[in-house]
Amino acid sequence: MLAGKKILIGVSGSIAAYKTILLTRLFVKEGAEVKIVMTTAAKEFVSPLVLATLSKNKVLQDLATNDEWANHVQLGRWADVFVIVPLSCNTLAKMANGICDNLLMATYLSATCPIVVAPAMDEDMWHHPATKKNIATIKAYGNKVIAVKNGELASGLVGEGRVAEPEEILVYIKEHFCRTNEFAGKKVLITAGPTYEALDPVRFIGNHSSGKMGFALAKELFEKGADVTIVSGPSKEKLPYTSIKRIDVISANDMYNACMGPAAESNIIIMSAAVADYTPATVATEKVKKKEAAWQIELNKTKDILYQVGLQKHQGQFLVGFALETNNEKENALLKLKAKNADCIVLNSLRDEKAGFGHDTNKITLLHKSGEMIEFGLKSKAAVAKDIVSFILQKINE
Ligand code: CTP
Repeated sequence: MLAGKKILIGVSGSIAAYKTILLTRLFVKEGAEVKIVMTTAAKEFVSPLVLATLSKNKVLQDLATNDEWANHVQLGRWADVFVIVPLSCNTLAKMANGICDNLLMATYLSATCPIVVAPAMDEDMWHHPATKKNIATIKAYGNKVIAVKNGELASGLVGEGRVAEPEEILVYIKEHFCRTNEFAGKKVLITAGPTYEALDPVRFIGNHSSGKMGFALAKELFEKGADVTIVSGPSKEKLPYTSIKRIDVISANDMYNACMGPAAESNIIIMSAAVADYTPATVATEKVKKKEAAWQIELNKTKDILYQVGLQKHQGQFLVGFALETNNEKENALLKLKAKNADCIVLNSLRDEKAGFGHDTNKITLLHKSGEMIEFGLKSKAAVAKDIVSFILQKINE
């Protein structure tokens, strides 16, 4: 996702400067071009040689050396984003007051690219009114601030002021500066995971769906610029970006209620959830005690969300359903495509090894209402999500 991105890292003097070693590696590994500018104080905490080696670029420290002037104006124009991490109290105060006494500050003051800072300081410094005022000032100037964390501090105290971890900074940069715009302006609704249908306060009827496929689709579509909402049944999966809206539900009925409103306003709807088709007719309020006789459970049909969304589908909406089949796979999937008024069905077969529920891989066939059918090989769910999303993009632009 960072391929071709130009990232300028500004390192100021703080114990947390060692974290820029890992951050530089993460950026480079993701394909970004990285340049680094650091203050004299920062050199006390992290070696320029290490950062130069990892970034594959000379680390810039001085406004001018014997015979060379560091072109700070060019640096700020070269970068797609300038990340100042760790941001010390001192550099923060300089940023708030426009003090230009080193290369990092000259670069900051002349930068035309977006600027993000990740402060690092002791808790008492962080809570000082001067720091609060300076943070408010640099925010008002348009800089973005990655919130400090609560945890162990260099002083040995525990509290607020820890710099965000390199992985969090990487995600922040991706989320705010690296999304592409293939789906810009498009609202997407995704269902994911299983549903649990309660029998009593401790038991339920459910299935083995992990939610991995739906979450991979949410990530892929968000990275391509979509405004994504995911309605998920019970799942351990986590979303990588805070701007993806997540609605957690338990039962098929909860999922139905959560979906129908957003579905009406969505441009693309992808129903990857393994929604229970049946739910217990009654739910006991107390735990059902074991008896000698068998337990007969009466089940009622749940509402078919995909079918209902298909009924109300309006011009310009693209509706994708999933079909998990064990036999006559393509015939059954085609029947579902028609019956549910979908534009496309993603077919998984339980006969394919390592595909479907719980696995990190999947093997799909895409069936479009035009009759087009594409079979894919076994791939990671992230790669499958890319295939599905490219197919949707192609179809909505036809
Ligand atoms: N689906 C849904 N609501 C339900 C049941 C299913 O939205 N109550 C959706 C699923 O999310 C999936 C598609 O319908 O996109 C197909 O689900 P599947 O269970 O394979 O098909 P069913 O229509 O339920 O038929 P069957 O179980 O008989 O194969």
